[in-house]
Amino acid sequence: MKNTAPRLPELLLPWYRANARDLPWRKTTDPYPIWVSEIMLQQTRVAAVLGYYARFLEAFPTVEALAAAPEQQLMKLWEGLGYYSRARNLQKAAKAVAERGSFPDTYEGLIKLPGIGEYTAGAIASAAFGLRQPAVDGNVLRVLMRLTDCRADIADAKVKAAVREAVRAAMPEAERDIRIFNQALMELGATVCVPNGEPKCEICPLRENCLARSRGTAMTLPVKSGKKQRRKEEKTVYVLLQNGRVALRRRSDEGLLAGLWEFPNVPGELGEEDAPSALAEWGLEAKAWRKRLSAKHIFTHVEWHMTGYVLEVEGQGMEEFLWMDADALEGHAVPSAFGKFYAEARAALGKED
Ligand code: ADE
Ligand code: SF4
Repeated sequence: MKNTAPRLPELLLPWYRANARDLPWRKTTDPYPIWVSEIMLQQTRVAAVLGYYARFLEAFPTVEALAAAPEQQLMKLWEGLGYYSRARNLQKAAKAVAERGSFPDTYEGLIKLPGIGEYTAGAIASAAFGLRQPAVDGNVLRVLMRLTDCRADIADAKVKAAVREAVRAAMPEAERDIRIFNQALMELGATVCVPNGEPKCEICPLRENCLARSRGTAMTLPVKSGKKQRRKEEKTVYVLLQNGRVALRRRSDEGLLAGLWEFPNVPGELGEEDAPSALAEWGLEAKAWRKRLSAKHIFTHVEWHMTGYVLEVEGQGMEEFLWMDADALEGHAVPSAFGKFYAEARAALGKED
């Protein structure tokens, strides 16, 4: 990664100051809200994060408040954002920060906290503390590979490391510029040098210095090798209704969606002939089968293909089942993978959207 655009800050920062979106975490240098925003933004789009961010900081205005938060409240506030281990790591890190009395104010201190990797440590170190540390996310990788018309594989850790060093070398010197430089590169990637469709080179502040633009290669960059195939899992999900209540159970403390609430389900796609077998195992008797529906949810490494049944049952069911009315259902964090079934349950319990 030689030959990065010269004068990068000179071109980029005035553009950023005039054009950046007005986002709440950009109005502060307090590491706590900056950190919360970066964790939320790791796998989630800005538009989806905004509401969660506001509610989260209202509920937990300080790192001490987050450290002391009850788990169910924390998970409820995260419900729908996905990648729930982010929320758990956020609280683990908050406890560590509360214990030591303040945020670490170095890159090395930040990266030791749970859930904080190279990118997030760089983003906080620069925006909150004005330190000359790069923060290279997918947006920044794309911009740099296009600027330099470089066809190296961005899935390769060595390539990423080289981009980090190129960004470090290109960073400005003045503290007020350092605080926004990483943000500005990300912003360019998110709004101008976009990933899907044609980049908007005609309005790009780097257009005169961009090799991909002059050579017409932007649409073919960046190069990223072998995405692993996702594993497919089939499941049969039961929305079990009884006397105005629906059964939920808590997922295990380990693994995907750990500790969140789900509708009872079994592996495999069970047709109408076989679906009743699970009920007998749970000690339930079907009274009326109301509906069959299907849903799909895509996680990073696995896809769930779900068949679901909505039915009235009789019996206690397993000890782990909690029978909830509409209000109780609302108070529990049910991940969006079950969203379709959740909507059915709400409707059946008399809460139409
Ligand atoms: N994506 C990751 N971090 C971001 C930030 N601070 N602002 C906008 N988008 C982002
Ligand atoms: Fe991206 Fe086009 Fe700007 Fe180059 S000129 S950085 S390809 S938007």
